[in-house]
Amino acid sequence: MGRNLARNIARHGYVTAVHNRTDAKTKALVAEFGDEGTFVPATTAQEFVDSLASPRTIVIMVKAGGPTDAVIDELAPLLSEGDILVDGGNAHFADTRRREAALKEKGIHFAGVGVSGGEEGALLGPSIMPGGSEHAYATLGPILEDIAVSVDGTPCAVHVGPDGAGHFVKMVHNGIEYADMQLIAEAYDLLRHGLGRTPRQLADVFTTWNSGDLESFLIEITARVLSTDDPTQEGVALVDVVLDEAEQKGTGRWTVQTALDLGTPVSGIAEAVFARALSGHAEQRKAAQGVLPGPGQIGALGEPGGEEGAGGFVDAADADAFVDDVRAALYASKVVAYAQGFDMIRAGSEEYGWGIDPGAMATIWRGGCIIRAKFLDRIREAYEKQPDLSSLLLDPYFAQAVSDGQEAWRRVVVQSVQAGIPAPGFASALAYYDGLRRERSSAALIQGLRDLFGAHTYKRVDREGDFHVEWSGDGSESQA
Ligand code: 6PG
Repeated sequence: MGRNLARNIARHGYVTAVHNRTDAKTKALVAEFGDEGTFVPATTAQEFVDSLASPRTIVIMVKAGGPTDAVIDELAPLLSEGDILVDGGNAHFADTRRREAALKEKGIHFAGVGVSGGEEGALLGPSIMPGGSEHAYATLGPILEDIAVSVDGTPCAVHVGPDGAGHFVKMVHNGIEYADMQLIAEAYDLLRHGLGRTPRQLADVFTTWNSGDLESFLIEITARVLSTDDPTQEGVALVDVVLDEAEQKGTGRWTVQTALDLGTPVSGIAEAVFARALSGHAEQRKAAQGVLPGPGQIGALGEPGGEEGAGGFVDAADADAFVDDVRAALYASKVVAYAQGFDMIRAGSEEYGWGIDPGAMATIWRGGCIIRAKFLDRIREAYEKQPDLSSLLLDPYFAQAVSDGQEAWRRVVVQSVQAGIPAPGFASALAYYDGLRRERSSAALIQGLRDLFGAHTYKRVDREGDFHVEWSGDGSESQA
């Protein structure tokens, strides 16, 4: 990714010094792509730093965590006051805050910059989420806006906010990416077992969906993966030979850990992280197979790999309606996942005083990044109309869209439960929706229980103050 980002910068006419601790990699980059721009290869960190005009602008692209600290420790003593050091990796925003504060003491401007789009995006135009000071952005901004992809003439790069704001937003982006992928996987699983169709046949469904309100990079590549055969066996779908244990590098987990601290319910992201974790517990899963029974019909129906017409748990006559229902459930659940992600951005911004503009985040996610999608334009519009929108679900367009799909959404959740096919993303999104819209929640009972066993007190609907019942006494209520 670092190599492609360097090429992208050079292609835009910036003289680009390059350095890698493995010198052969630096040489290979210049040998292979040297004609794309002006590269200045450097063998050592000192040579690299010396080759830059002051104030220097340096982008680090290495593995998050220890490797990033190691590179910073190597470079920092060689830098001068006023230099700008950019971390373009997937760093934890708390690390970015720590590094920014430490380098500030030395007069070095440290900017944590989220870059999304994978290797190809880095070369052809990523979505960029830059954090750091206004001062650093004055120099960095024009370069980043140049190399980012543009949608409708607007670059997908904007100053997110100070210190860790950029990496925080990139982390939430990745959390939403996890939720989105989980929902797509659930839709695929339900269609596969509901209809008994082959992956290639389901690829057509996703291709059709990609021309409607679900249009997005992830739906597009789902169709690609599903229509791909195992390169080593003819006629066998690749998806059927890939081990069903999802891995993760950790940004989804960070999102959930941070959300717990902020008290923001990002249940869609959490379900996605936990579903990956469950998939990875292979031994437990194996032990449970054959021991824990599912609903009666499941073994006999719609086994993966079945041909069209082999049958699933949905009657053939209802197949088209089921596909429409799953599409509606996917869209509604996706809206919830994004609403939760944007809630978290607002909560983080408030906690750390970053002043993040949520509409601007939707704007820069419209292109270049993994979650790029048509409906981000709707999110941008929603925040443009109402910058202080308390939940995306309350925007008239999204409220209508979710309400239009809710009957189908409920049917799909019921069918998944009856068929014994886990759809935690769909179900928890629906539970969140219902939890949000209900006038009275069951939390009143929880408050009562807390007061009974721990004298934790409760508030009343009809009077101000904190109250407690003398549970082991005369049952009277006292005001704390
Ligand atoms: C991006 C991606 C990128 C990477 C994730 C994958 O925005 O370009 O999000 O950052 O693909 O790190 O994360 P997992 O390995 O945790 O699924």
